[in-house]
Amino acid sequence: MSFEQLIKSIPKAELHLHIEGSLEPELMFHLAKRNNISLRFKSVEEVRAAYQFTNLQTFLDIYYEGAGVLQTKQDFYDLTMDYLHRCKADNVVHTEIFFDPQTHTDRGIAFSTVVEGIHQALADGKKNLGISSHMIMCFLRHLDEASAMRTLDQAMEFKDKIIGVGLDSSEVGHPPSKFKRVFGKALEAGFKTVAHAGEEGDPSYIWEAIKLLHVERIDHGVRCLEDEMLVEYLGLNRIPLTVCPYSNVKLKVFKKLEDHNLKKLLDRDLVATINSDDPAYFGGYMNENFLGTAQALDLAAPEIKKLAFNSFEASFLQREQKDQWILKIKTL
Ligand code: ADE
Ligand code: ZN
Repeated sequence: MSFEQLIKSIPKAELHLHIEGSLEPELMFHLAKRNNISLRFKSVEEVRAAYQFTNLQTFLDIYYEGAGVLQTKQDFYDLTMDYLHRCKADNVVHTEIFFDPQTHTDRGIAFSTVVEGIHQALADGKKNLGISSHMIMCFLRHLDEASAMRTLDQAMEFKDKIIGVGLDSSEVGHPPSKFKRVFGKALEAGFKTVAHAGEEGDPSYIWEAIKLLHVERIDHGVRCLEDEMLVEYLGLNRIPLTVCPYSNVKLKVFKKLEDHNLKKLLDRDLVATINSDDPAYFGGYMNENFLGTAQALDLAAPEIKKLAFNSFEASFLQREQKDQWILKIKTL
């Protein structure tokens, strides 16, 4: 089997995907028309040309703007279904997707519209495409604690559909400690917790996510290598990192893919995974991230298998389901 064939055929779980970040410009135009919204862009090409980012914030500004076309349950359904077809094409057999309710509720869209639209697509994706999934609700960390608390309260009646809570948006200046009480309440209610940390923020953001928010995974976490004690801690406690190579290059965390530290993370025996983050904005879904990164860092077949293994090990699947997929990987 060729290396490319291995990447294409190996079963994978995606653990770091913002559903709003899978909004392709074509669907953006389609939804804008359907909802009578005028966009400041004249064409799909113009939208793509605007995707030149210098850091996380320059991306977030355009990403929140794009999400404005999402209005109805059907819109969230269509967005999610398009992503699930990408999963099918890339042999992503399990996905744990993030959604940002505040991006929508702050524009007057009902919380239930967002959750139910996404959930219905995930249920159909399970039935028709065989893809299992979970939903993780992220709090926007640039907004205040009270807004996050209100959002958590709204999530309570959808506990059967939302497995966990996360933390995203502008990292620097908005440390995990700002949301200690919100995450405490979420944990008490039985939600799992994850958080973006160490994408642009220094290792103290990762420590806080672990110690104060009690997260089971760190999203990104690539700056952990600046703190030897932290690397030891992550390794000993098997705390996974959901790494997003294309995102990191597009948002200038690393200058180029060849500079990415994923191989170093694997060499330190950390539970690192590959994910696409916001593929419509960063130019690649899962297999592109796998292939591009493998080529740039000269990864070999055992490392690809390790990354796929880690993706299931780090997932919120039941042990039995994890083992079924891991067995498949071992026999490849
Ligand atoms: N929201 C969507 N993508 C994000 C990222 N990479 N970091 C923080 N917030 C995000
Ligand atoms: Zn992210």
